[in-house]
Amino acid sequence: MHRLLPEPPADGIDPYDAYADAPGMRLGMVMSVDGSVTDAEGWTDKLGGDADFRVFRTLRALSDAILVGARTVRTGRLGPARLRADLRARRGGPPAPIVVVSRSLDLDWTLPLFTEAETPTIVVTSRNARNEVPGHVQAIGAGRDDVDLPAAIRTLREDLGHERLLCEGGPALATALIRASLVDELCLSIAPALLGGARHTRLLDGLDAEVPLDPAALYLDEGVLFIRYRLRV
Ligand SMILES: NC(=O)c1ccc[n+]([C@@H]2O[C@H](COP(=O)([O-])OP(=O)(O)OC[C@H]3O[C@@H](n4cnc5c(N)ncnc54)[C@H](OP(=O)(O)O)[C@@H]3O)[C@@H](O)[C@H]2O)c1
Repeated sequence: MHRLLPEPPADGIDPYDAYADAPGMRLGMVMSVDGSVTDAEGWTDKLGGDADFRVFRTLRALSDAILVGARTVRTGRLGPARLRADLRARRGGPPAPIVVVSRSLDLDWTLPLFTEAETPTIVVTSRNARNEVPGHVQAIGAGRDDVDLPAAIRTLREDLGHERLLCEGGPALATALIRASLVDELCLSIAPALLGGARHTRLLDGLDAEVPLDPAALYLDEGVLFIRYRLRV
């Protein structure tokens, strides 16, 4: 990985060092140059290749909990978090739990994500819906009828001790977190491709406010640009 910013440019950068100073809430996503966050199969695997996968794994290893929206889980492609031995050694422990955010709880509870995770998956929903979560899954109820995201984040931090949070998307959850001013940093990977096509999902879903960004770091690896933006909120 090459560092382009901050100066001076440098080569041989280890992603773990590049992203080590994790703030309270990171949003880590990959998109094509024209803003698509899904490949032709509606998933992300073919977007950023190995270079992006290295950063993806690193961001996970540097977080205490990994938030994902329920529609991403409903693709059926998201497995339980695992950690490669080298990252586990540097992290000094098991993987962070995945935290699924859902109002509807329209989730397949038999997925390995809910039955086989080394660190058990957590579901965030409203207090009214919480009782519908099966007993084998840990649930957080935040907000009475609708999910109160700031309250959910407080619970993750204050009750469960998960300080460094990573949201992996998708666009709907990412937008909700940005709207609620809960995101400190956007870790964006830009894959060298134009995907076009109306069926592709864009990075954010219905953001209705301008959010200025400060580029804090810029890396290049195998043609993929990795930018760390601080959000000015
Ligand atoms: N390129 C990338 O980095 C990346 C990353 C992740 C996902 N993706 C792709 O993105 C697509 C899915 O994204 P998406 O935007 O459609 O969905 P999403 O953000 O993954 O999930 C949306 C769902 O999350 C829950 N949710 C979101 N905001 C909420 C809030 N404020 N309160 C309570 N619940 C909330 C709701 O669940 P319920 O419907 O259950 O109520 C909502 O329907 C997939 O195709 C996936 O492959 C790409």
